Amino acid sequence: MEEKEQPIAGLHFVGKKDELIEAKRSFRTIEGRDILIISHQDVFYALDSYCYHAGGELQNGDIEDIDGKLCIICPNHKYKISLAEGEGIYKAKVSRENVAKWFSRGVKQRIHMVTETNGDVYVKLSEDCSNIESDFYQGEKGKVERAKA
Ligand code: FES
Repeated sequence: MEEKEQPIAGLHFVGKKDELIEAKRSFRTIEGRDILIISHQDVFYALDSYCYHAGGELQNGDIEDIDGKLCIICPNHKYKISLAEGEGIYKAKVSRENVAKWFSRGVKQRIHMVTETNGDVYVKLSEDCSNIESDFYQGEKGKVERAKA
């Protein structure tokens, strides 16, 4: 891929808009971090490539609207992760009402910022300092765990 000058510090060129839309899912390594860029319904999303649960490859996951949130479904154990926020979404029965509802486990998957300028798409890595569970599978120990799976 052609190297582009960063228009703003921290922005990494990840491809031309048209190419990313056609590809739908694109894998990039940015500053040693493996990132999945998704083009879905004219919107770009970028998130850590490996599922926070056990390192599944989200690149192969389906995308569904769940309770008004677009989610990627991890192909390994079907965990659902919202594309916009990185929340773990799960369904549970509310005993009092005897119906199942969707709940959030909170942010589990690190989400990165995507911007587009004149047909060029850039990703800025998340600077959130808090520990997010998907971080584990980006590190050395996580790579070993992924290799075992
Ligand atoms: Fe993704 Fe288990 S690895 S649901």
